[in-house]
Amino acid sequence: MSTIGDQYILGVGRSDHDRLHVISEIHDGETRELLKRAGLAAGHRFVEFGCGLGYVSRWAAELGAHATGIDLNEHQVEVAQKLADHSGVTNAQFRVANIYEHGLEPESLDMTHCRWLLVHLSRPVEAMRSIYAALKPGGVMVCEECDASAIYSEPPSHAYQEMVELGLNAGKRRGVDYAGWRRVHLWAREAGFEIVHVSAYQPHYISGKHKGFWNWTMVTAGEGMVREGTLSEERLRELERGMSAADMDPHTVVAHARMHQLIARKPV
Ligand SMILES: C[S@@+](CC[C@H](N)C(=O)[O-])C[C@H]1O[C@@H](n2cnc3c(N)ncnc32)[C@H](O)[C@@H]1O
Repeated sequence: MSTIGDQYILGVGRSDHDRLHVISEIHDGETRELLKRAGLAAGHRFVEFGCGLGYVSRWAAELGAHATGIDLNEHQVEVAQKLADHSGVTNAQFRVANIYEHGLEPESLDMTHCRWLLVHLSRPVEAMRSIYAALKPGGVMVCEECDASAIYSEPPSHAYQEMVELGLNAGKRRGVDYAGWRRVHLWAREAGFEIVHVSAYQPHYISGKHKGFWNWTMVTAGEGMVREGTLSEERLRELERGMSAADMDPHTVVAHARMHQLIARKPV
């Protein structure tokens, strides 16, 4: 594990890929609707920042867009390109870059997308300015970022509550705000955009494999806290047992983070 560019902790393991796959399963339906609403069309020059394994870029390419996925994780970019090549998609390409220094030609893009990227950054407005520079006048930025403070269970689980608090505090220590994304429209305005659309959604689960998504994610983050010395291994395992009890209880609902969606336009 290493930290590059900003505050994002890179993972290259199998479980990191599994998590990206689950994110795609949970969110791709909403993402596609949002991109259609934003006017994504064949022939568009489309860039997905923080593309991970490139699920959204491949779909945009299948629609006929000229799609580029950009991510600072070399390994993920390599896998994303292989997945595109194997699925026969020819108009999706992937490359390694940091959103702050993407090297894209100024005013060259019709549309950009990022999902679960800006939430990891300590300078989200600066990242949006970097997107702004690459968009044509009238070009559209689409963002989908999560507010982790909205995760809860009903009946309430103290383990979930404590783990959410620990995660938000760990974010603060690293200069990132996992609860800030209700302000996405304000940050986009600060970066110079006109706001076209805002919405939010929040999946809720009573059963099924996605019910344990945050347990898995927060335990992985918790292992980082154990390594930093901000959480004991014993406490982490107690919290994991508490969250698993809520996940396995057929009468307990677990709410995913609330996803904030934004469509914003660079003024003509
Ligand atoms: C939680 S993943 C989300 C991936 C993908 N957007 C999705 O929804 O499946 C965040 C991604 O952002 C990438 N990333 C983090 N910081 C970045 C930066 N400064 N510039 C570009 N990519 C970054 C990570 O490598 C990772 O692939």
